[in-house]
Amino acid sequence: MWTLDETSFDPSKQRHKETIFTIGNGYLSTRGAFEEGHSGESRATFVHGVFDAAPIVFTELANAPDWLSLQVVLDGEKFSLAQGEVLEYHRQLDLRTGVLTRRVRWKSPNGKIAELRFERFASLHDEHLLALRCQVTPEFEGEIEWRAALNAHVDNEGLRHWNVTRQGRKNGQTVWLETITRQSSITLALAMRLLSSHSAAFDYWDAEGQPTLCQRVPARPGQTITLTKFVGIATSRDSDHPLVLALESAARPQGWEAALQAQTQAWAREWEQCEVSIAGDEEAELAVRFSLFQLLIAAPRHDNRVNIGAKTLSGFGYRGHAFWDTEIFMLPVFTFTAPHIARNLLEYRHLTLPAAREKARQAGYEGAWFAWESADTGEEVTPTWVPDFHDKKKLARVWTGDLAIHISADVAYGAWQYWRITGQDDWYARYGAELVLDTAKFFASRAEWLEERGGYGYRDVIGPDEYHDHVDNNAYTNILARWNIETALETLTWLEHHHPQRAAELKETLNLTPERLAHWQDVAARMILNVRPDGLIEQFDGFFRLKDVNLADYEPRTKSMHEIFGIEAANHYQVLKQPDVLMALYLLPERFTPEQVRINYDYYTPRTDHTYGSSLGPSMQAIVACQMGDVDEAYEHFLHAARADLRDVRGNAGDGIHAASAGGIWQAVVFGFGGLRIHPDGSWETHPRLPSHWKNLAFRFTLRGQQHLVTVGEA
Ligand code: BGC
Repeated sequence: MWTLDETSFDPSKQRHKETIFTIGNGYLSTRGAFEEGHSGESRATFVHGVFDAAPIVFTELANAPDWLSLQVVLDGEKFSLAQGEVLEYHRQLDLRTGVLTRRVRWKSPNGKIAELRFERFASLHDEHLLALRCQVTPEFEGEIEWRAALNAHVDNEGLRHWNVTRQGRKNGQTVWLETITRQSSITLALAMRLLSSHSAAFDYWDAEGQPTLCQRVPARPGQTITLTKFVGIATSRDSDHPLVLALESAARPQGWEAALQAQTQAWAREWEQCEVSIAGDEEAELAVRFSLFQLLIAAPRHDNRVNIGAKTLSGFGYRGHAFWDTEIFMLPVFTFTAPHIARNLLEYRHLTLPAAREKARQAGYEGAWFAWESADTGEEVTPTWVPDFHDKKKLARVWTGDLAIHISADVAYGAWQYWRITGQDDWYARYGAELVLDTAKFFASRAEWLEERGGYGYRDVIGPDEYHDHVDNNAYTNILARWNIETALETLTWLEHHHPQRAAELKETLNLTPERLAHWQDVAARMILNVRPDGLIEQFDGFFRLKDVNLADYEPRTKSMHEIFGIEAANHYQVLKQPDVLMALYLLPERFTPEQVRINYDYYTPRTDHTYGSSLGPSMQAIVACQMGDVDEAYEHFLHAARADLRDVRGNAGDGIHAASAGGIWQAVVFGFGGLRIHPDGSWETHPRLPSHWKNLAFRFTLRGQQHLVTVGEA
């Protein structure tokens, strides 16, 4: 199944629908708001890297001037779903081509009936091009008027980011608009070129910040009229002359069909790299394709200065900030199917090393401590305070920016995994190695010798399970930190053999003296891991002494356990927001036995807030369950992840796509049910464990430059 369909119009669901009907091309995304607008809509286009200052969250992606705007006036009455009668309605997103279509048969308050068909796409072939077409078939005799505009009067839920610098008309059918962000001074230019099936001239309305072209066309029953709107878009991040680039991009397409053909071909090439099919389970198949689509439209193809935010480019949630969601959840999708994208994302981390070093330095440490929330510069942009769940007038302190040190190991893991899977040694020597070494340097300097424990550890941190803050020796953190330091030492040895000059350079710039390296060895060798004799790992010092809880006692519920207990009190219970120990077991399978995975899975699974905790959890839970052979349980967790956006089971999909969950869904299919494993020598095998109703699973991946197709089940 390749399409997402909405067959009736429900105004109360539109925020959710706008998110899932987002289109994009890796340069920008536009939420599925209606061309003509709708009250209560959350209309937005986000362009990668276009950040501007905002209170509390430091910086946010600025909602770009609106390119969609199109009013259709039927004999003096504006088409709007808020009025008149919707006689037929069908909206469809075709994941194969990235085209969003809406067909509405509408009766105006005065009884005029027409069928309107809107189509739009963000060109994957030419990332500066957006295309929209409207076809109207009236069932009356009279007049139809088009009013097509570019509109700078947009905001981020109340906060305005744009000043208009200039606007104008280029020729009879082309107008343009140039704007600049208020604080970051990024210029963004839009150019609109209209093609109409009717020859009547366009009138120009030079409304401030809203250049508009209008055309009046005679309406004849059954005769379809068509307007095509091409919009070119560019910013000063892409060109010294964004307006020129925008105008050129809008002028380039020959017409709708030609632009659509280029789009269809570009998407076909894209799907050839990563297609997944699941026979026997339409919902699962659609979920994994939808997840891939959402990640692909957010994935920068030509820019290594940006990352993918936790809500992709599809909503206001998390303001475009990137988290560990990228390296641990999304990046594997790209590393295994579109390495050039993975590379851009990792090079972004490399470019933000100066900010990560500064963050470590300011806290009194060495090396690179990446921002928990990262935006344009890589400086820490996690808000320090947010409104409290219980009383929105009160503020709650957010600790992740201060305490989540595991992010540095997550970045290192992403770089190392990229190297292992792609085999790009030169890239690793140039970029990846430095990420791994400098994060190791951070972990070695942040580690404390804890005399009473006889080992090194990390006090006062927050791990993946964010229901507990200010903890000591978080298992995930300590395990990953040790891995990071060990991998850095191995990396250095490898560099010395294969890239001695680079090894010498990095030793010099990172000051990797023999004493320092000896200290690294010692920290790694004597890291506190909190493993009990039976293999159970304590999530942090004292976790097992916390109050135990039977989560079933709180069912049915519609809130997270954090909301139920309160932020402070949740610290006192053995309840997890998301897998923590299990995450480490998943990422480093060579280090743990199946028995150890089992005992930890059995302990932590019933104590995890799967339904309303973090959306990052269920897909990971599904993978570990699969690997242990609990396929039914795995499938349950998988469905929960699959429905986070498509069915809005968490109730917050309106804020944007759960990007980590989308990455996790692909991982659950490929590494969980498909059972793909890559060995250190570069060989691979699969241990498939399909749900009983899956007849066949097929997926593609690329390992060291070679594409493979895996098919499991009936032919
Ligand atoms: C999760 C984090 C995640 C962030 C962004 C939080 O709720 O606990 O693990 O990185 O959301 O998705």
